[in-house]
Amino acid sequence: MATASIDVYPRLAFATINPNIFGHFAEHLGECIYGGIWVGEDSPIPNTDGIRNDIVGLLRAMKAPVIRWPGGCFADDYHWENGIGPRDSRPRTINIHWGEVIETNHFGTHEFLRLCELVGAQPYLCGNVGSGSPREMRDWVEYCNFPGDSTRALARAANGHPEPYGVRYWGVGNENWGCGGNFDPEDYAVEYKRFSTFLRPFARQPFSLIACGPNGNNVDWSRRFFTKLGGYRHLHGFAAHYYCGTAGASTEYSDEQWYQLLDQAGRMEPLVKQQRALLDSVDPDRRIGLIVDEWGTWHPAQAGRNPAFLWQQNTIRDGLVAALTLDIFCRHADKVVMGNIAQTFNVLQAMALTEGDKMVVTPTGHVFTMYAAHQGAAAVHAHFHADAIAYGANGHVPGLAGSASVKDGQLVITAINANVSEPLESTLKLHGAEAASGSLTLLSGADIHAHNTFEQPDAVQPRETALEVGGGDVTITLPPACVALVRLALR
Ligand code: AHR
Repeated sequence: MATASIDVYPRLAFATINPNIFGHFAEHLGECIYGGIWVGEDSPIPNTDGIRNDIVGLLRAMKAPVIRWPGGCFADDYHWENGIGPRDSRPRTINIHWGEVIETNHFGTHEFLRLCELVGAQPYLCGNVGSGSPREMRDWVEYCNFPGDSTRALARAANGHPEPYGVRYWGVGNENWGCGGNFDPEDYAVEYKRFSTFLRPFARQPFSLIACGPNGNNVDWSRRFFTKLGGYRHLHGFAAHYYCGTAGASTEYSDEQWYQLLDQAGRMEPLVKQQRALLDSVDPDRRIGLIVDEWGTWHPAQAGRNPAFLWQQNTIRDGLVAALTLDIFCRHADKVVMGNIAQTFNVLQAMALTEGDKMVVTPTGHVFTMYAAHQGAAAVHAHFHADAIAYGANGHVPGLAGSASVKDGQLVITAINANVSEPLESTLKLHGAEAASGSLTLLSGADIHAHNTFEQPDAVQPRETALEVGGGDVTITLPPACVALVRLALR
């Protein structure tokens, strides 16, 4: 059996892990909203105000901190006024990005904000820069947030919500280098200033404007955007998108493709370091938060599914991608303030798949529930030592990678064993602290292609066991291809 060691320094905290790092993204795309979240009040599927109860329960279990909506590419073709008022008189529009399906607009601002209320998540609304206007976005902020008796605030009350929603997070467009208008960074900077000038907090509500950042780690976009922005500073977040893509297909891949995808996912780490370094050059006090508001795997379209709907199965490999990425965010908790995996249900790297009244939690969904233990904790120094795994001609992935945090006297360590066939015996050394008791939760499957289906919903599910802790080093055995969560009560 291969061996490894983990050195953890529970007293050496370097940042608080922002809960929003574990955030989500829901777009009007395929069956993410319609079917996945929204079924309508008259549906036989158990729901609250038209929103599925099972998905609310799942998002609550994983403590979903923030949900970004309505896109994605959809956002820059979305006109929010289509989605308010009596549902049967809302316009039927065309979803030009995702299959030209009819958008009934039945799930609009109030429905989304109700979802957030039910889940206990913060809403993050993405405005329309590409085909919208500063006035349209400014009016949306007023509609949601103004506490007085302006016509728009009164309309919100008439539509069922007298209290201002106090939406804090507002995206000023999405992928404006692509589907959000095909701007170059200088032109987007001009648009950013024009739009954001008219976006204001009301009654001192917390208010954060998020600019469109680069496609992957495109440092040129970021540099040129901030150069053109000059000293203008009415922005609070800068959001990159990074999809690690695929290697093989969602459920069919070789050992080499397994490692290749993990390697691609690991490129999130240089992105975080280099984009933050660039931000530091213009924002040394870190007033502008680095965000990754779309990330995840993107596999080839599944046979028999509409390719425009981006439906994909999700195996233990996707689970390791999720764990590896969240551990990168936690290791760089001083640099990342929010992350939003794409997407919540039935689209790309989903938390769960739904079919009629059934819901099956994916390995990725289980990882999010396990990793909720890090939310709001103090990130502490930890070093993971194991031989790197070589694959293909020149590729390498870390044999063991993870992160650690402390909250309320509990040390949490998460990690992956990337090896497809070898278990890893790992010695856990605590420096400057002792554990009184502990548990080990493992997520793995029968093989590297294991995934959950409606017929076999528990093929991949977390299993918790008590850990032997005697005051000294703790030994844990990680099966091949697994995600691990260690919880230790500190003395
Ligand atoms: O998540 C699917 C799409 O990926 C989003 O609409 C877009 O922002 C990105 O290209």
